[in-house]
Amino acid sequence: MPRQRLVILIAALVVAAVIGLALAPKVDRLVSRQAPDGEASTSVQTVGKPQVGGPFMLVDQTGKTVTDQDYRGKYMLIYFGFTFCPDVCPTELQVMAGALEKLGPKGAKVQPIFVTVDPERDTPQVLAGYVKQFDPRLIGLTGTPEQIAAVAKVYRVFYEKVKEEPAAGEAAKDAAKDYTMDHSSVAYLMGPNGEFLTFFPPGVSPDQMADKIASFL
Ligand code: NI
Repeated sequence: MPRQRLVILIAALVVAAVIGLALAPKVDRLVSRQAPDGEASTSVQTVGKPQVGGPFMLVDQTGKTVTDQDYRGKYMLIYFGFTFCPDVCPTELQVMAGALEKLGPKGAKVQPIFVTVDPERDTPQVLAGYVKQFDPRLIGLTGTPEQIAAVAKVYRVFYEKVKEEPAAGEAAKDAAKDYTMDHSSVAYLMGPNGEFLTFFPPGVSPDQMADKIASFL
């Protein structure tokens, strides 16, 4: 097995273990650092009763303030990322959109949500243009850096700004573009009362995700 695949596989298993055992955030952070936006072929797993999820107050892509309470009665399919992400976030959002399409009418019970970990650049306006590329039902959420930190903490999502060297010839005024975000890439399925049901690591197919979601509906 090529070394990179092995590392990613181990990292995915460790992430699964961390979520399952609900270890300290410090450990979560350490583990997630090993697999920013990693891709892996991992089967869908259900774990015990991890402490994932909780209250949040954010702003949606229309500028409206929302809380977790607004989605009670629906199954939240929630993913954290950022719109500048070159490929992993778009791939995962396409998987979510594909899974919803496959669920057909049953998918109406599911509310797909994209929460940015890059509130500095991902304004409601930016999110509005982004989410509609994937599914008209997809909601984009942003907030203050403190609000994003709070929701990421309760969902055990790691993220970190990483400086990038400006490309040769790039003007210094492009400072807004000279960073990227490392972040854990996990989609969570939460139940109608906001309770954690399962999660999907990167590499899950739309069919696998749809089948797993359907088992809860
Ligand atoms: Ni990403």
